[in-house]
Amino acid sequence: MPKSIFVSNVLPREALALIPKEFSVDYNDSDRPLPKTELIRRLEGKDALICQIVSAIDDEVLAAAPGLKVVSNVAVGFNNIDVAAARKRGVVVTNTPDVLTETTADFAWALLMAAARRIVEADRFARSGQWTRWQWDLLWGHDVYGKTLGIVGFGRIGRAVARRAQGFGMRVLYHDTVRADGAAERELRATYAEPDVLFRESDFVSLHTLLIAETRHLVNERTLRLMKKTAILVNAARGPIVDESALVRALREGWIAGAGLDVFEEEPKIHPGLLPLENVVLAPHIASASLDTRLAMATLAVRNCLAVLEGKPPITPV
Ligand code: DGY
Repeated sequence: MPKSIFVSNVLPREALALIPKEFSVDYNDSDRPLPKTELIRRLEGKDALICQIVSAIDDEVLAAAPGLKVVSNVAVGFNNIDVAAARKRGVVVTNTPDVLTETTADFAWALLMAAARRIVEADRFARSGQWTRWQWDLLWGHDVYGKTLGIVGFGRIGRAVARRAQGFGMRVLYHDTVRADGAAERELRATYAEPDVLFRESDFVSLHTLLIAETRHLVNERTLRLMKKTAILVNAARGPIVDESALVRALREGWIAGAGLDVFEEEPKIHPGLLPLENVVLAPHIASASLDTRLAMATLAVRNCLAVLEGKPPITPV
């Protein structure tokens, strides 16, 4: 029997071309999430699934394909997959780390800079025709150079964000469940801090943790109130790490100065309280969205899938 793969959303042609001709492929050439019933129906009898974060792969979905060997997620985050259920069923789960690290770190910095220097407001102002003369106190922002950056989650992306901070002469604090080794701390000039210290002392807090039970609403009313009134929060990780209602109040009432958000609690919905606020920069979950990076993610996901189907170890298992 030829191996059968279900590709549940659009992938670049170059990545699909890696799949051997003799494999049977059911391809949903769309970026819209499939309704669960259709996902289940099309997964029946398949050996492999290549999916994106828009598909929730829970135990019910996994049960539809008892022969499933691999779920290959085209993302580094894998909170859309019930990994424990997959493991119980002997299904390998893979993700796409490394290939998006630098692009995602660049984007976290883009949000940080945009929020600090009010780029989006400035753009709107410049286009609006309101700019009639040079003004002394126009759109004053917050300095970045020489300030303190707090990084929550010191994995690949958190470290890439820290590396960039060196160019800005920043003091870097980080928190993670596992402390980095001395060599990494020295190389990145980063100091380990307990979460409350990090929130209290940082001018910028950038989130780079996984979304797991322990990190859900890690940023909440209490931690937001610990932050400086001049501080800026950046989230390019996962929306539910931040209690969005608390953040709306923090931004509205001036507990913190601003935020740059690429992810939201209930994507694609954005908390309506965020929309009218000038002191938040909003992006539609695009931190890894560059041509090269998306191609590299898709290629790695296909290679992971093929490795498992060919009886080899996956390249990047979860
Ligand atoms: C990821 O890789 O987890 C991104 O959030 C989606 O591209």
